[in-house]
Amino acid sequence: MKSLTLELNGAKITCDVEPRETLADFLRERCRLTATHLGCEHGACGACTVAVDGQATRSCLRLAIMCDGRSVQTLEGLEDDSTMEVLRRHFHQSHGVQCGFCTPGMLMMARDILLRMHDPDVETVRSQLSGQICRCTGYSGIVTAIVAAGRELGRAGQAKGVRESGIQVTAIAAVPAKVDD
Ligand code: FES
Ligand code: FES
Repeated sequence: MKSLTLELNGAKITCDVEPRETLADFLRERCRLTATHLGCEHGACGACTVAVDGQATRSCLRLAIMCDGRSVQTLEGLEDDSTMEVLRRHFHQSHGVQCGFCTPGMLMMARDILLRMHDPDVETVRSQLSGQICRCTGYSGIVTAIVAAGRELGRAGQAKGVRESGIQVTAIAAVPAKVDD
């Protein structure tokens, strides 16, 4: 056994783990954080996606002991997260969930995309999601939800930026498409 200390969903924990124990098994079986699903267990489906030091990570491919001294976030730890709140709402509105098996991993990956990219378009979201497998939805509702969430968060970010800059927007002038000499 090896001693493992990590920050898990904001709480510092220390325990002994088997050297070969995966992060996914550690989260599900020891910590009872079962939002982290296991589909393929070899890095192909993305159902087990969590955030390690803020980066989307497949927990079936990561040994728990490799997270010593790191921060790990699972879906359970993001209940009050503002980005996740917007994503959850749009997944619901756009029918991005059917059986729900892929959903925790999809949400974790979607949040990762929206934290890295400002207002991504459909093609970008499809490409970024290419490592996540859903057997039910045909992806359309999921992609629509992430694009809509990105748009909403982008608008909110712009409004916040304007408020914080102290700039008063009174009118938006039309910009000519082309200026001839
Ligand atoms: S269970 Fe980890 S990628 Fe499929
Ligand atoms: S909703 Fe069933 S696998 Fe995605």
